[in-house]
Amino acid sequence: MFSHLNPLPADPILGLSALYKADSNPAKVDLGVGVYKTADGKTPILGAVQSAFDRLSASEGSKVYISPTGWPGFTDGCANLVFGDVLVEKMGDKLGAIQTPGGCGALRLAFEMIAFADPETTVWVSNPTWANHVPTLAAAGLKHKVYDYYNRQTSTIEIEAMLTSLEAAKAGDVVLLHACCHNPTGADLSAADWAKVQALLVRKGLVPFLDMAYQGFAAGLDEDAAAVRSIFSALPEALLSYSCSKNFGLYRERTGALFIKGEKDGMRDALVTNLAQLARANYSMPPSHGAALATTVMQDAGLMAAWAEELNAMRDRINGLRGSLAAALEAEGLGDRFGAVARQTGMFSLLNLSPEQVAVLQREKSIYFPGNGRINVAGLTDANIPYVAKAIASVA
Ligand code: LMR
Repeated sequence: MFSHLNPLPADPILGLSALYKADSNPAKVDLGVGVYKTADGKTPILGAVQSAFDRLSASEGSKVYISPTGWPGFTDGCANLVFGDVLVEKMGDKLGAIQTPGGCGALRLAFEMIAFADPETTVWVSNPTWANHVPTLAAAGLKHKVYDYYNRQTSTIEIEAMLTSLEAAKAGDVVLLHACCHNPTGADLSAADWAKVQALLVRKGLVPFLDMAYQGFAAGLDEDAAAVRSIFSALPEALLSYSCSKNFGLYRERTGALFIKGEKDGMRDALVTNLAQLARANYSMPPSHGAALATTVMQDAGLMAAWAEELNAMRDRINGLRGSLAAALEAEGLGDRFGAVARQTGMFSLLNLSPEQVAVLQREKSIYFPGNGRINVAGLTDANIPYVAKAIASVA
């Protein structure tokens, strides 16, 4: 049965970690997988999360199954963070929520739900988008089309081209949007751009699907949720996949959620029971540990305040690194060619380098990032920036 299968190439993002680990060059730099790192290259357990862990391990007392919809209070806590109390109240029982194994699990479950509701649905994705979006929607049996988004040469968003491509979408098509901290470009829509996109979604009867994996990394928890709140207020139906991997630092605990707003009052039961059934036929129920930690933080004012401070510190550090890298590249004689790095948000920037140039940096300089030119800015440090800037200048 399996003898015709051949080995596959490594995942374009996750595969880099093994190559980096195996490299013996002491100057090596890992700008691959999107994880936050401190100045000494560690991805720490956040203090608020550690405190939650200490409390939980003293009180948990059982590993019995949790409900298919997740750890009690988890999706309510996430809903308050993303939508805010007022919108949660306004949406009432139009909103269905389920805990998922990470943001990726939320995406997959959402695509399964879309395919279950209407297998002919087309999903529109940005050009470019996260490398796992298309494989995940395709695995659920959906087809996709691409909308213009980013100009690599100018490192800017092409809003008019984006709107023009979405004019070709038909009512009921799903439009996948990055809520903030666009992955891989780091280039987010402005408030004015979001307003134009929202007006188009409303006018054409499209279904927005916001993917939010970096709340708090662009400008702040509420600021980063502005587009989500506006779109969920204005559109009759909308989806949101949510990840706690980055903002709670819970990567390996696979902690995420899926929210779907239905058109009519009372939709919650239909949405949640259908999602739970799809999940049951897949992974049965989500893992509890990360959600229990995040919930413990979200339900305690002191831990929330400590967590928000840690999140702000992560964002500030990344923004500082952005400025330092852009300045170092300018000092290498590259002018403003990579100046956009300083203006972008979140963990990533898409450098305008060819796959060959990226391969040379990996082979000759031991600097690791995916072939599309995406760097994880959080992998930079004050110590490695001069080396990285010089290396980039040597190939650019
Ligand atoms: C990334 O884009 O690097 C992260 O979201 C990790 C992943 O799963 O790809």
